[in-house]
Amino acid sequence: MINEEASSMTTLLVTGGSGFIGSNFILHMLSTRPDYRIVNLDKLTYATSPEFDQETAIFPHYSFVHGSIENQELVDFIFKKYDIRGVIHFAAESHVDNSIENPGVFVQTNIVGTFTLLNAALRYWMDGPGKVKESYESCRFHHISTDEVYGTLENEGKFTEESNYAPNSPYSASKASSDLIVRSFQRTYGLNVVITNCSNNYGPRQHKEKLIPTIILSALQHKPIPIYGTGRNVRDWLHVQDHVEAIQLVFHNGTVGETYNIGSDNEWTNLELAQEICTILDEQEPLQSKESGLSSYSELIQFVEDRPGHDWRYAIDNSKIHTELGWQAHIPFRVGLKQTIDWYRTKLFS
Ligand SMILES: NC(=O)c1ccc[n+]([C@@H]2O[C@H](COP(=O)([O-])OP(=O)(O)OC[C@H]3O[C@@H](n4cnc5c(N)ncnc54)[C@H](O)[C@@H]3O)[C@@H](O)[C@H]2O)c1
Repeated sequence: MINEEASSMTTLLVTGGSGFIGSNFILHMLSTRPDYRIVNLDKLTYATSPEFDQETAIFPHYSFVHGSIENQELVDFIFKKYDIRGVIHFAAESHVDNSIENPGVFVQTNIVGTFTLLNAALRYWMDGPGKVKESYESCRFHHISTDEVYGTLENEGKFTEESNYAPNSPYSASKASSDLIVRSFQRTYGLNVVITNCSNNYGPRQHKEKLIPTIILSALQHKPIPIYGTGRNVRDWLHVQDHVEAIQLVFHNGTVGETYNIGSDNEWTNLELAQEICTILDEQEPLQSKESGLSSYSELIQFVEDRPGHDWRYAIDNSKIHTELGWQAHIPFRVGLKQTIDWYRTKLFS
């Protein structure tokens, strides 16, 4: 039930809000924008952040709906019940390795699920192509996507919003497909959409299957730190808090139908990244070599068989979002890494 005070507020639907980026986004919005009510629709897959439920308990303008974005009846019901005036769509299957093992669920969630949400928004906000319902003019659908849709780079150059789509994994192909369906709803029906394509995120509440949590948790437990291939693949890392601030900005100020790339000029090879985390740990909690038989956490790094079709390098040209909307990343990498290590240490040992 919506209480009386909340019914006069603008209500946003956040999908996948119990996952890594969605949970950080919701906590940021609830803390900075008390004028919004937020409804989180999440299927609660293995990837959810278990502690998030308790963290939202203090916010009266937050509601949770357990269900799938593929369920058209449910999504239509949510739009109507809560009078949804904006969508920020995070829900996805998001791990490349899983998409190699089981691509079908990526097609269902990332493509069919996105289509289902667009359908609901179209029906609820519009009377037909180019005909927005009265009082629904400012309703917006913000699709959260990845730089992986652009494929892979050689050692030079960066992805811009004009780069060709050339996805290589079932994950990135499903995200690329969803981007194109979102785009088509704007071009065909005039739905108010924006798309953001972001580089690799790190920070609190990320599932342990992803690279940075794997490095931190393996090191803290003195287990081998697995690094694919030669460790020379390059990623452009952005703290999740910088990402959620960029999303908030684009949702409010981005131009209809536009795409904005988000990244922070922070390129590291996977090996350099693992070594940096090990160096921080060596400083923070030096190993007792007698007990562990190790003098540095970096001795735990082990190369493992490369991921099939492993993209070589991602790098984002963020000049559009910087020039047009004034966004830039603020969190220095070492500071963000230390904070992230502390978060995982607390989770592991509490
Ligand atoms: N993590 C990154 O580095 C990164 C970078 C760029 C873009 N993205 C994109 O950002 C979005 C969020 O990524 P993340 O890392 O937070 O993912 P995540 O895997 O941590 O969380 C995904 C969330 O979606 C939910 N979900 C999955 N299937 C669903 C369904 N059918 N219905 C409802 N909810 C469902 C899960 O339960 C989970 O809470 C994704 O769209 C991803 O493609 C992620």
